[in-house]
Amino acid sequence: MADIFDNYRDEFRARVLGGRPRSILEVGSGDGAFLKTVQGEVGRLAGLEPSGEAVDALRAEGFEAVQGSAERLPFADGEFDVVVFSFTPHHIGDWNAALSEAMRVARNGVEILDVWYDDTVADQRTAHEFDRWLKAIDRRTGMVHFDTLSPAELLAPVIGRRDVTYDYVCRRIGSSQNMDETLEVARTYLSKVDNDAELSRAFDQIITAAHRDGMTDEGCIQMTIEKGS
Ligand SMILES: C[S@@+](CC[C@H](N)C(=O)[O-])C[C@H]1O[C@@H](n2cnc3c(N)ncnc32)[C@H](O)[C@@H]1O
Repeated sequence: MADIFDNYRDEFRARVLGGRPRSILEVGSGDGAFLKTVQGEVGRLAGLEPSGEAVDALRAEGFEAVQGSAERLPFADGEFDVVVFSFTPHHIGDWNAALSEAMRVARNGVEILDVWYDDTVADQRTAHEFDRWLKAIDRRTGMVHFDTLSPAELLAPVIGRRDVTYDYVCRRIGSSQNMDETLEVARTYLSKVDNDAELSRAFDQIITAAHRDGMTDEGCIQMTIEKGS
């Protein structure tokens, strides 16, 4: 079976290109994993990224790349047809500001792809709990890394705006997590916090739940927020 993220990325690519945009800005472009899926498909393709190293690497690969932050985009109103966030919202400190800025810079609207867990299913609740546990350690070690945003949280900055329409799907391809890899990752993470006793106990509880209920890979949310005319 192909990596489920390849499936999610393929679906998202089709969703973004479906509106036939002529220009795309990706906010939080990282190493260009999203940009590469749409390379050659639009007249102007640009990435914005806080990491200077990542910006240099993208430029070396021929991409237009700008160093900056989602909360304040150095672009004019309506400069790009579409603004994309791909696996980035849960890294952004101020989602309200980020989405407002993206809506300002987008002529047509914003496309979002991010991690999503189906908390109605037991094996997803264990996976989500593990994800929260990892992110708690990331935050303790200085990274901006939050829980996944629900559809309501993603939409909160535009709810009530009559000039906006939205459409989203929550997608999940069920596949069990590799528990050996999970344990290995957990050991590495615990070593970053000197095997903190509270976090070790919390992990033991997650593993007990995983043996009882299973633990499956994350799903994704794909969301389109369109500006009215
Ligand atoms: C998980 S990576 C996603 C990379 C890429 N978009 C992809 O689809 O694989 C998250 C990216 O968000 C960037 N990021 C973190 N905080 C940000 C912010 N405030 N504004 C813009 N990008 C941010 C990180 O530097 C990182 O490159």
